[in-house]
Amino acid sequence: MSSFVEVKGLRKSFGRIFALNGVNLEVQEGEIFGILGPNGAGKTTLVRILSTLLKPSAGEVSIAGFRLPSQDYGLKKMMGYMPQSPSLYEDLSARKNLEFFLNLQFHNGLGGSTQNKIDHILEFVELKDRKDDLISTFSSGMKQRLSLACALIHKPKILFLDEPTAGVDPRLKRAFWDYFKKLKQEGTTIIITTHQLTDAENCDRLALMKKGKVFLVDTPSHLKNLGTSRIRITRKSGVKELEISNFSEEFPKHLKEINGDVLRLDITSDTLEDIFLRLTQDAD
Ligand SMILES: Nc1ncnc2c1ncn2[C@@H]1O[C@H](COP(=O)(O)OP(=O)(O)OP(=O)(O)O)[C@@H](O)[C@H]1O
Ligand SMILES: [Mg+2]
Repeated sequence: MSSFVEVKGLRKSFGRIFALNGVNLEVQEGEIFGILGPNGAGKTTLVRILSTLLKPSAGEVSIAGFRLPSQDYGLKKMMGYMPQSPSLYEDLSARKNLEFFLNLQFHNGLGGSTQNKIDHILEFVELKDRKDDLISTFSSGMKQRLSLACALIHKPKILFLDEPTAGVDPRLKRAFWDYFKKLKQEGTTIIITTHQLTDAENCDRLALMKKGKVFLVDTPSHLKNLGTSRIRITRKSGVKELEISNFSEEFPKHLKEINGDVLRLDITSDTLEDIFLRLTQDAD
């Protein structure tokens, strides 16, 4: 069976710059799929191609059965896209921005239900009491939240989020993730780029990118297992230190050493960040 999102040999150049150098990727329906990688790795370029905003130089892309770029009309109505930097009208209010966006994207008449949808989504991003204020008076986190509201308001089947939590405070970040998981439960597929480890841990699978290529795809828990853990066993008779890789497989083998006369046990493990940095260095 074919995947919901299929990308084969995708390339994109801007003049002499090769932003994507042959990306291969498959994402399943209902998956929350994270894309990580250093600045300039090609994450935004990839997401902009998948969300029909940019034409590839070469390669094949199919999403929900629509081939890109030729069949992008089929995808446009069923997708939501949140750009890395919000593109909003500074001299319009939050509500007018959403109305304008709906008119532009969906030629939607402004019946009662549209206003209800607008109110509902503004409540979710906690901007309802600011809905008639101009965007030029918003903080950057507030603009970020309105930009997310634009991507979500029409209940897309597939969501592309380019660093949605950058500059968002921790409480709201958690609210975003609760909402993303609810959308997943309802069958929405989410492709999200991020530099933030808390985002990465919430994804079903992660793709690591570097220099225009995806060099690894795996689950966060498998990736965590690639780290090193240090175990320090303290007894009256002395201290023993062990270093193990693949914690979930190796640690059980050491359990019999941890018996009654152990006074203290300390375990420290590489963080996902340590592991990403090492994998990205090794990818050269
Ligand atoms: N419109 C453009 N014109 C020229 N070069 C571009 C354009 N867009 C992207 N690039 C180049 O493509 C490469 C990949 O950029 P991209 O924005 O996709 O990276 P990114 O992984 O999203 O980085 P970041 O983490 O900083 O957002 C970079 O070298 C960038 O300079
Ligand atoms: Mg980017």
